[in-house]
Amino acid sequence: MIVTTKELYDHAYGQYAVGAYNINNLEQTMGLFRGNIQSQSPFIIQLSKGARGYTDKRMLEGIIRSAGEVFPEAIFAVHLDHGDEQTCYDCIDSGFYSSVMIDASHETFEENIAITRRVSQRAHDNGISVEAELGMLGGVEEDIAVDEDNACLTNPDEAKEFVEKSGCDSLAVAIGTSHGAYKFTGGQGLHFNRIEEIQKILPGFPLVMHGSSSVPQDEVRRINAAGGQLKEGAKGVDENEYLPAAKLGVTKVNIDTDGRLVWTRVHREFFSEKPEDFDLRGPGKIFMQAYADFIAHKNEMLGSAGQLDDVRESLKK
Ligand code: 13P
Repeated sequence: MIVTTKELYDHAYGQYAVGAYNINNLEQTMGLFRGNIQSQSPFIIQLSKGARGYTDKRMLEGIIRSAGEVFPEAIFAVHLDHGDEQTCYDCIDSGFYSSVMIDASHETFEENIAITRRVSQRAHDNGISVEAELGMLGGVEEDIAVDEDNACLTNPDEAKEFVEKSGCDSLAVAIGTSHGAYKFTGGQGLHFNRIEEIQKILPGFPLVMHGSSSVPQDEVRRINAAGGQLKEGAKGVDENEYLPAAKLGVTKVNIDTDGRLVWTRVHREFFSEKPEDFDLRGPGKIFMQAYADFIAHKNEMLGSAGQLDDVRESLKK
């Protein structure tokens, strides 16, 4: 059942974080639904601009609708990840999305407010909520690359002003993470002081953490042992930091890279062990279960595992 993103946030805020997973194809969708049922978790499906253009956006939407029928127990929201203004309008008008993200964080503060305000007005007229971003994360997301020197943490006073003036419903904040497989080289972690300061100035307001993959080193090693050439030694977010961040208002946690690593590991290992094979369903089957197990594990770390029945009850009120 597709619900509003707000309904999921209302249930989760301050208790646990809802996993927001990027999806591109049938196998990922199948694994995603299985994993969330396995762990009894509510979840958010994220479609990026790149994912919508990978085949045809209607294909992905059709797969998600079908998954909702195959797994009638599932409770989830559908979200546009990193939209520009036009893509946000396209999603709002389609009637399929629970929420959109307008990412104008690369613009000036004033321009970011103006663009987010326009999108929020149109979204709210259609019963859809809006995530915006303030502060810059490092790394590469779709076609936008930000180098580490230009990445800066979100300023709490600016966050308050931004939320008030833009009318957005949740805010992606820069708290030390970056997109992609190469985040931290040393012992860095989340900037909890900054999250606390933002929560203090925006109590009850859902915060979003982008760049939340943990980039498991074992996964990277297995990929490389099967012929990959990923840089080793770079770490992601410590999964043990998800829940403490959730208690401080981080209500949505975005995970994409770790899922790509699962896909790469399964396919590289499969074909290096069976070089004579050419049936895509062999690795596909292994991937769907591996992805389901991965999702269930993440949900345990986010605290969303086991929440499904309670969310269902809260929807009746
Ligand atoms: P990762 O690259 O850390 O998975 O982050 C994904 C993300 O934030 C999508 O918006």
